[in-house]
Formats: sequence, structure tokens, C-alpha cells
Amino acid sequence: MMDTLAKRRPGPTASAAPACGDQYQSAVIFMHWLTLLLLIAVYAFIELKGFFPKNSPTRDAMQAWHELTGITVFGVVLARLLLRRLYNQTPTIVPEPPHWQYAMAKTMHVTLYAFLVITPILGWLTLSAKGELDLPLGLHLMPLISPDKALGRNLQEIHETIGNIGYYLIGLHALAALFHHYWVRDNTLRRMLPSRWSM
Ligand code: HEM
Ligand code: HEM
Repeated sequence: MMDTLAKRRPGPTASAAPACGDQYQSAVIFMHWLTLLLLIAVYAFIELKGFFPKNSPTRDAMQAWHELTGITVFGVVLARLLLRRLYNQTPTIVPEPPHWQYAMAKTMHVTLYAFLVITPILGWLTLSAKGELDLPLGLHLMPLISPDKALGRNLQEIHETIGNIGYYLIGLHALAALFHHYWVRDNTLRRMLPSRWSM
């Protein structure tokens, strides 16, 4: 993303106050915040699960809703990546941040996209290997691989490790956005807010 951003960086004369219309597209903004809401649900279900006794229906429901919301994240991120490909439009940041901040932001965004794609796939592979493919609302997942209990345990471990790393990635990303908004006072965050909040 930031490679486009770097190409569209403002020239030396573009240091005036940010234009209010200089925003991400509304569909991109919608999907960005929808992803955040879905991830809050994904993490809430898996954390709440731990409060209920083993084999209780509520515990199983928490797990199943974790899986369904996780698969929904996968669908949303695929749509988001397609949209990015179709309309690769990154609004400029004003005032222009130093080059190292562009590089760090690019690395973080690529990492976040990788996290959003890889984590649900690993969850899906885990369920396929365990042969447990039922989701809530009568939905079923298609198996990606044949059942294999030992492989299932390994895949689950990797899924859980990456899922837990997600807390730090998202936290760092959100802190960087707040740093730009409250400390640097540029338009980084306003570009990602619905226009009525970004003036
Ligand atoms: C972005 C989406 C997802 C994130 C961030 C995520 C994150 C997590 C986390 C943090 C854990 C618990 C780790 C721990 O106990 O330390 C977990 C467990 C698990 N997740 Fe996900 N997950 C996602 C999507 C999915 C999907 C799509 C599936 C299946 C379709 C899935 C299946 C599982 C399973 C089977 C477990 C193990 C539960 C257990 O038996 O303890 N996850 N996930
Ligand atoms: C409170 C939480 C969050 C805040 C304040 C926030 C803020 C922002 C801002 C300001 C941008 C634009 C950055 C730029 O163009 O340089 C952005 C982009 C991005 N955010 Fe977030 N974000 C949050 C949560 C999340 C979450 C949970 C994810 C997914 C795990 C995420 C993934 C991304 C990605 C991938 C981009 C790059 C967008 C593109 O394709 O250009 N964000 N975020």
C-alpha cells in the first residue's frame, strides 16, 4: 500500500492544512472498521470460552462463533484486497512524514494483511485435520485436507501462536495511528475516518 503512497507523496509545496476530502474511499473505510469490529468479536469469543466449563454448550458455542466470525474476517479481507487491486488509491499524508515512517507503515500493513489471511486459513486447516467442520447457523466448512489428528494439533498450535501475536500487531498499528493524530497532528487517522468525523 505504502509504495503507492510513496509515489503519491505531496511535493514540497503541499504542506498546507490537509484537505478534508483527501480520504480513503468510503468502501475501504467501511471494510477497515468492519474488520476491527469482527476481530473484537473473534477475540472476545475465544477469550470468553475459557470462563465456561469443558464440554458445556456455552463453551462450544463460543468456540463455534469464534470460527464463524474468523471465517467472516477472511471473506472481508479477500474483498478488501480485491478492492485495493481495483482502486489502488492512497490519499496523501499532510504534512509529509519522514521516509522511515512510510517504510514502517508499509511493513506493518503488509504484515497485517498477511495476518488476516494466514490466521483464518490455519484455523480452517485445523478444523479440517480434526474433522470438526460444523459452524453455527447450520453452516459447514468444506474440508481443505484429510483428517489427521497429529497434524491438527500442530496446526492449532501455530494458529494460536499467530492469533496471540495479532494482539501486539493490532496494538502497535493502532498506537501508531493515535501517535500521528495526537502527537504529530497530521491527517493519517482522519484519512481513515468516515468524512463526517474527519473534519
Ligand atoms: C483472524 C481470525 C482469527 C484469529 C485472530 C484467531 C485467533 C485465535 C486465538 C487467539 C486463539 C486462542 C489462542 C490461545 O488459546 O492461546 C484461537 C484458537 C482457535 N481458533 Fe482461531 N482465530 C481466527 C480465526 C479462526 C478460524 C477461521 C477458525 C476455524 C475455522 C479458528 C479456529 C480456532 C481453533 C480450533 C482454536 C483452538 C481452540 C481450542 O481448542 O482451544 N480460528 N484462535
Ligand atoms: C483502533 C484501531 C485502529 C486504528 C486507529 C487504525 C488506523 C488506521 C489508519 C489511520 C490507517 C491508514 C494508515 C496509512 O494510510 O498510513 C490504517 C490502515 C490500515 N489498517 Fe488500521 N486501524 C485500526 C485497526 C486495524 C485492525 C484491527 C486491522 C486489521 C488487523 C487494521 C489493518 C489496517 C491495514 C491493513 C491498513 C492499510 C490499508 C491500506 O490497504 O491502505 N487496522 N489503519
